[in-house]
Amino acid sequence: MCFLSKERLVALICASAVFATPLKSEPISTHTLESRQENCPTDYTSQNGLRFTGYCDKCIVGYDVFENGNAVDGKIMSMEDCMERCSRFSGEVGATYSGGCFAIVYALGDGNCWIKNNTVGTSDMIDAPQDSKMHVAFPDRTQL
Ligand SMILES: *[C@@H]1O[C@H](CO)[C@@H](O)[C@H](O)[C@H]1NC(C)=O
Repeated sequence: MCFLSKERLVALICASAVFATPLKSEPISTHTLESRQENCPTDYTSQNGLRFTGYCDKCIVGYDVFENGNAVDGKIMSMEDCMERCSRFSGEVGATYSGGCFAIVYALGDGNCWIKNNTVGTSDMIDAPQDSKMHVAFPDRTQL
């Protein structure tokens, strides 16, 4: 999914971006720039060598394989850790999908890390609700 589980309003806003009217574009604020620099790396290489491109203040609705990528503790502390889980993800335990991780959505607010399946693409990204601190990253498909 593409929302903060404890903030249903965000879900509604995010869903409305898909099913109703697009979100209005907002002027870039100082807050947004800080968020990008501190919490959303646009280039990242995982410890096992998978290269990621980050897209800040974006989300993706649907395509969910798994939330938090088999994390034992449930909460992912950083977008980098979410990408690390993506780089090691090889299918949902006990389910039919056996593909890897083809994108992540990370919600800084509640530490959720959504693993997206092999049909997702960059054109599926939409603007995240303002101040929701949700970011997307795609691994380099040529490495998968
Ligand atoms: C991937 O997600 C899409 C959108 O939710 C879904 O239609 C498709 O069946 C999924 N594919 C797999 C292999 O799970």
